[in-house]
This record gives sequence, structure tokens and C-alpha cells, in this order.
Amino acid sequence: MDSNKDLLRGDRLAGMDDLALRLTSSVQSDPKIAKAIVLINLAHVSLLERSGAIDRETRAIISEALSKAYNGYRIDYRLEDVHMNLEMAVKESVGEKAGFLGLGKSRNDQVVTAIRMVVKEELLETARELGSLISSLLDTSALNKNTFMIGMTHLQPAQPSTVAHWLLCYTGALLRDLRRLREAYHSSDASPMGAAALAGSTVYIDRAAEALMLGFSGLVENTMDSVSSRDFIADALYALASTAVDISRVASDVMYLSSTGLIRIADEYVSTSSIMPQKRNAVVAEIIRAKTAVIMSNLESSMEIMRGLNQTYNLDLQEITPRLWASMEEIKPIIKVVGPMMASIKYDEAAMISAASASQVTASDVAEWLSTRYGIPFRSAHQLVGKAIRETEDGGLGLQGLVVKYSKQDLGLDIDAVELAKRFDVVESIKLRLTEGGPNPMESDNIIRKHRQTLLEEGAWVKVESDRIKKAYQSLLGESLRDKEV
Ligand code: ARG
Repeated sequence: MDSNKDLLRGDRLAGMDDLALRLTSSVQSDPKIAKAIVLINLAHVSLLERSGAIDRETRAIISEALSKAYNGYRIDYRLEDVHMNLEMAVKESVGEKAGFLGLGKSRNDQVVTAIRMVVKEELLETARELGSLISSLLDTSALNKNTFMIGMTHLQPAQPSTVAHWLLCYTGALLRDLRRLREAYHSSDASPMGAAALAGSTVYIDRAAEALMLGFSGLVENTMDSVSSRDFIADALYALASTAVDISRVASDVMYLSSTGLIRIADEYVSTSSIMPQKRNAVVAEIIRAKTAVIMSNLESSMEIMRGLNQTYNLDLQEITPRLWASMEEIKPIIKVVGPMMASIKYDEAAMISAASASQVTASDVAEWLSTRYGIPFRSAHQLVGKAIRETEDGGLGLQGLVVKYSKQDLGLDIDAVELAKRFDVVESIKLRLTEGGPNPMESDNIIRKHRQTLLEEGAWVKVESDRIKKAYQSLLGESLRDKEV
């Protein structure tokens, strides 16, 4: 055998055109899975030995070469991808016996197994970071249970709220994103190994044992499904996109509030202009908003690549992988920067209280009071207050006086002016709100406690899974070292 012959093409095909090779090679994104590929090969040769396909000595020398490659090996586009490069690295160290690596497996099952292994670790890492962000937002909420804030709908002042109430709306959403990351982890946690190209092989590979060695908790059962499905990537990309969308909404709120002067983001998170020295631009928030679009588009383009693909493996699938890694990378700095940025914000509470009072954010409180205190239908009370507000816009009597006037004139009621006055106090309104999950500081306390508990449980889960994976990988590497001593 000519050992300089192309590993794959041999006498079958002439050398590939260089541009064609560069275009179809996956070496750009392969470094991310390089270590996982080594682990898969370690597990695989061990199963080949168990099934009697290779002898102990062959297994031992290949394992030793693989363990060396674990610390790094050359990945050259001329060998198409990481898989052939690893086989070449082993060949350089043990010679033709490296050729046994191709027995009972294919690049098709190998690549998707490696992607699953890496995405599992990445999802755990992202879950850890997201947990820190939520925890930091909960700390900021705890400090601001009583800090007044205007709640908006349609970007118009609507009802009284607090900074904690507003932030807890995001911790709730981000906890759901954390759960999505966990679900995506479960989708990825199944082993395709043993499926080979698409239909397994005539060499018996104990798939369940291989899965266990690689830290998976189960199998992707059908071998065609094993090599051709990437829905676990869509699940991961959706969890990331949803996280980014939620953070992007925080960013939009921050941009708007800082432009009104009601909040001030610390200098560390704003930039100024090269010509207008007065500017304090909320650039971190702007970039988060834009990067969210990119993260979402990675989900869309991945699903676009998947749709319409015939079974089973097509090289189109290779184009999905870099999109996954790109989203995983893009989201990391976003998740890390938001907590400290939010903690840096100073709230101009006095300005928020006076803006809220000026825009009558307790108008619904007044209508509710008229309805429940005097037994009039809420709609009539709502119309009465609306009419009174309309008149204040034309000048003349203040709103309280007008409500008294119209209650008498339209409904024949002598309402209690002292009680009515209390309904115009925007700060008092927060404490009068009885609703579960509302802005009342007691409710914020409850929710902070519940969210902290959920975070603890999620954190424990991340640790259990990380430890389980680490143990599996260490024992694979350890096993090959033991062979060395034999
Ligand atoms: N480089 C490929 C990928 O990333 C690996 C599988 C290639 N399989 C093949 N038959 N060409 O998806």
C-alpha cells in the first residue's frame, strides 16, 4: 500500500480541485469538536476490541496515539475535515493500523455525536451564566422593592409600578429561558454512535455501552434518524434566541428610559459622540438589540437548511454547525454584561413620581374606588373619570375637583373627598394593590424568594450534569492511559 495516498480518495478519485476542497471543507468550525472526536474514537476502539474486531494490542497503540492527539492535532482543509485529520494524526504515529479507526463507524455518526457532546457542555455553561444574570437581577430587585417606577403600555404611562416589579418581569422570563436551555440539553443528550453512515454495520458495536462511555443518557434509536437529525440544534438555537429576545427587551426599556432622563446608566456602559460632547448613548443596549437579530437568524437559517433535505446525511448539514457555534458565542458576552449594567443604573425616583402624577397613572384606581365604594358599574366610573380628565386638559378645575363635580352632577353622589384624594397618591397606590405578582413590595419579596429557590434547583442540576459528563470523559482518557502501562 502506498502510504502517501489520499486517505479517502486513494485510487478511487483524482485529487479534488483546491477551491472545491476549500468550499466543502468544515475545518473552519471543526476545532470546536476536535477533542470530542478524540473521545469518540477512544470509545469506539474500545468497543471494536470488545466485539473482537481488533485485538488488544491494536487497541492499545491506537488509544495511546489518540490520547496524545487529545492535546491537539493539525486540522488541514486538504484532508476535508477533522475526522480525516485525526485518522492521519494517528496514522503518523502508529502507521497503517490507524486504518482500523474507520471500522464500524462513519463521519456521519461521528460528527453529530461530537456536536451533541459539545453543545451539551456549552448549554450547561450558558445555563450557569444565565443563572448568574438572573441572580444579579434578583439582587437589584431586592434593593429596589420600594423604588417607584411608571408602568407603561403602548409606551404610554399606564399604572404605578416599582423597579423590582419591572425587573422581576424579566427574571420570570429568563427563568423560562433557563428551562428552555435545560430542555435543549435533554434533546442533545442522546448518542447517535454506531449508526455509522446510516444503517449501522456488520461489525457489532454495543451502542448503549458506547453512549454511556461518551456521557450520554441514551440513544437516538433509529440509525437513519441518528445521522440525519439536527432538531436538537434547532432546540438549542431556539433557547438561545428566546434568551436573546428577552434580554433585548430589557435593552429596549433601558434605551427608552435613559432617553427620557428617568434613569441614568453608569458611564461604564454608555459612549459619547465624536462631535456632540453632551451625548450619553446607550450603546450596549443597542448592540444587544442588533445581535439578537443575528442570533434569531441563525435559528432560521438552520431550519431552512434542514427543510427539504432527503434522508439521510447530506453535506448541507455541515452548514448548520457554524451557525450553532456562532449563536453560542454571540450570547455569552450579552448575558455577562446585562447584570452589571442593570446594577449600575440610577433611578430618578422624584422625577418618576412627578411624571406619573402628571400623567394620572392612578386614574384606574379612582375608577375602581368609585365602582366598589359606591356600587356603580366600573364602565360608568371609567367614563366619568375619562370625562373629568378631558376637562383638565382644557384647563380649569383640577381632576379631583372635577371627579367630585361629575359624581354629583351625573350620578347624584356626594363622594368622600378625603378618601378620593388618597387615590391620587401614586406611591400609596403601590401598597393598595392586592394582586398576586403585582408591584406591592410584599409580593416582590415573595417572588424574589421563589425565583431564588428555582435558581438553586437549576444550579444543582447543572452541577450534577457537568460532573457526570466530566467523569465519563475522564474515565475514557484514564482507560487509555491504563493500557499504556500494560
Ligand atoms: N465534515 C462533515 C460535517 O461536519 C462530517 C461528515 C461528512 N460526511 C461525509 N460523508 N462527507 O458534517
